[in-house]
Amino acid sequence: MNYTKLYLEYFKNLNHKIIPSAPVVPENDPSVLFNTAGMQPLIPYLMGEVHPEGKRLCDAQKCIRLTDLESVGDTTHHTFFIMLGNWSLGDYFKKESIEYSFNFLTKVLNIPLSKLAVTVFEGDEKIPKDEVSANRWQQMGIKKERIAYLGREDNFWIAGNSGPCGSDTEIFYWRSDDDAPLKFDPEDERWVEIWNNVFMEYYQDEQGNITELEKKNVDTGMGLERIISVIENKDDNYLTSLWAPVLQKLEEITHKSYKGNEQSMRIIMDHLRTSIFIAADYSGIKPSNTDQGYILRRLIRRAIRHARKLEIDLASDWENLLAQVIIDQYKEFFPELEENKDVVLNVLKQEKEKFSKTLEKGLKIFEKKIQNKEDIDGESAFHLYDTYGFPIELTIEEAKRNNLKVDLTGFEQKFKEHQEKSRTASQGKFKGGLSGNGIMETKYHTATHLLNAALRSVIGPSVHQKGSNITEERLRFDFSCDHKLTDEEKQAVENLVNQWIKEDLEVVKYTMPKEEAIKSGAECMFIEKYPDLVTVYQIGEISKELCGGPHVSHTKELGVFKIKKEEASSAGVRRIKAVLINEEN
Ligand code: ALA
Repeated sequence: MNYTKLYLEYFKNLNHKIIPSAPVVPENDPSVLFNTAGMQPLIPYLMGEVHPEGKRLCDAQKCIRLTDLESVGDTTHHTFFIMLGNWSLGDYFKKESIEYSFNFLTKVLNIPLSKLAVTVFEGDEKIPKDEVSANRWQQMGIKKERIAYLGREDNFWIAGNSGPCGSDTEIFYWRSDDDAPLKFDPEDERWVEIWNNVFMEYYQDEQGNITELEKKNVDTGMGLERIISVIENKDDNYLTSLWAPVLQKLEEITHKSYKGNEQSMRIIMDHLRTSIFIAADYSGIKPSNTDQGYILRRLIRRAIRHARKLEIDLASDWENLLAQVIIDQYKEFFPELEENKDVVLNVLKQEKEKFSKTLEKGLKIFEKKIQNKEDIDGESAFHLYDTYGFPIELTIEEAKRNNLKVDLTGFEQKFKEHQEKSRTASQGKFKGGLSGNGIMETKYHTATHLLNAALRSVIGPSVHQKGSNITEERLRFDFSCDHKLTDEEKQAVENLVNQWIKEDLEVVKYTMPKEEAIKSGAECMFIEKYPDLVTVYQIGEISKELCGGPHVSHTKELGVFKIKKEEASSAGVRRIKAVLINEEN
């Protein structure tokens, strides 16, 4: 049965517009590597912006969560999953949302009432107890004993530290052959959460202050993998119909059965699926040593290591065969898989070939050690890691197979030494300044600092830089902000920047330890990306930022500052394009 279709059709019949999944790599949001929830691409609309498709939306969103990476290999964890979601943007609220969910579960999926339980928010000093939801659940037929009231830890939802948020009600399913007890105990692990309905009526700022949003929204999320395992009564997600075609192909390729090889097979299936979705994204991510590209590389290589464990002939087209099955399975809802099929297959093949070569070379080193019955000292383990791309766990595995020991403490020591060295190197890079050093680029760098300071002054200290791009012609600046700027705000920002330019403030450069710079309140984007010793540019008394420069020495050199455009960039992030002109037009 196609559960994604069932879900989307159901909400379509309730006047929801089906919207396509946003890319798995968020557009213009450098604060996260991957999309982790269905609501993330919708944040501007949850904050009040009008969505072109209306007030009722639903979708199947591609999500990647890396927090569970190490757990993949067990029965339930995945790096990639599909989140089915439906939203009300200032339209329906608790009563309808609960009714829709309840009817989908009991009437469409035919889940018996006896297997359902819910949690609702118990209330605290800031947000009242959610009696409305509890009453509605009872009206729908959920017994009082099956409703648990829980606190913020469990029944309040927010993505990260700040943003739209609210109390939620979670729906649980009794997954066990034992009869479901009359009273719901949320601590009993046989109750598994299947759906989360968040009632987003607040905004939480970075200091934890809560204010009411203009409109009350609903944000729901149901993990496809989880709901299928529940319906099909499987306690291993990989044994559901969702994975059946992939698993069948994998058994065929390996001539091995799933039983006895579960862990490696799960890792191969999970990691390949995630890699395929990343590589197929329109963002064009390729395996590399940084950011999303690094994750892609790591996932593919880990899948390959487990393929090797299962004695798959790496040179054969095994990864291609598996990829074809996965692509066929998901392409109906994610057409980019078919459109970018060649790209995906190439990425997998090339990375496989690259990794196979380094594996071979590294294994030769191993052979020598094995012949000489030499344990792997820290230096060799690090050499394998650094030069041949051997993750330490591979070295441990190989050593174990050949009854050799690995000096892990020595490895860590070498690893730390190496980190120190590369830090010093990157310090050199930062000293060299940013890409463009032309006169206009230099001016735009300084104008960017003024703009950042003006936005913080006009809108508030919750504004932070989220991205910046400078050309000879203009600056582009992305910043955290929960609303579209009003004309008055834009004008005030522009006026303030121009006032500071006229005041001809001095731009002063300091070098200081990173910690000290942060303590002194200097603005920065990604603290961990800076070297230990940083340059800070201070403009008069109004701005202090960690930055590689280059900058002008006095603000008057900038001319006149003009905002050309203000628009949504991504979830909770706005974008300004601005120019500098010689004189007032
Ligand atoms: N945004 C909510 C979640 O991810 C629905 O659980």
